[in-house]
Amino acid sequence: MPYLIQHSVVVIKYEMILIFTPDSRKSEKGKIVAYGLYFFTYSTFEGRMLYIEDVYVKPPWNRQGLGTWIWKDIAKIAVETDCHRMQWIVLNSNQTAIEMGKKRGAVDLTLTDKWHLYRMRRKELEAFANSSDL
Ligand SMILES: CC(C)(COP(=O)(O)OP(=O)(O)OC[C@H]1O[C@@H](n2cnc3c(N)ncnc32)[C@H](O)[C@@H]1OP(=O)(O)O)[C@@H](O)C(=O)NCCC(=O)NCCS
Repeated sequence: MPYLIQHSVVVIKYEMILIFTPDSRKSEKGKIVAYGLYFFTYSTFEGRMLYIEDVYVKPPWNRQGLGTWIWKDIAKIAVETDCHRMQWIVLNSNQTAIEMGKKRGAVDLTLTDKWHLYRMRRKELEAFANSSDL
């Protein structure tokens, strides 16, 4: 290859918000009932952004505001760390999560900008990485 290809290695660090059961319920004290998993990544157009990998609230702790609280806390972190945007993916069938985002101004990029999410699983990854392409 006539080009010098330089790999810039950035270790992507995940961060997590964990919600534990309160002290008042001694039998369940200290158990994780909800979490928000996120990491920082970069857009070539806009720079730093935050990606939410998952927010989960375990029943019966759901529907009490914890999901919204975690989502908002992550949004605050995005603002405080100078992110231009916050992104996540959600299944079409997950109306609860879709409504939570829409209500706060999030847009569905597949509808508005025709972005599509592509994935290479391990099998395809290995086939491509080990192929004779180029
Ligand atoms: C989506 C999820 C995180 C919401 O957590 P939660 O603690 O129940 O959320 P909240 O109590 O803050 O409620 C958020 C909103 O969703 C609504 N909601 C929550 N569960 C609902 C349900 N089962 N059916 C309909 N509406 C529901 C609430 O009424 C609330 O609406 P509002 O903002 O108009 O008041 C939780 O249901 C969950 O863990 N789902 C499975 C994982 C998932 O889908 N994660 C999101 C993908 S990234």
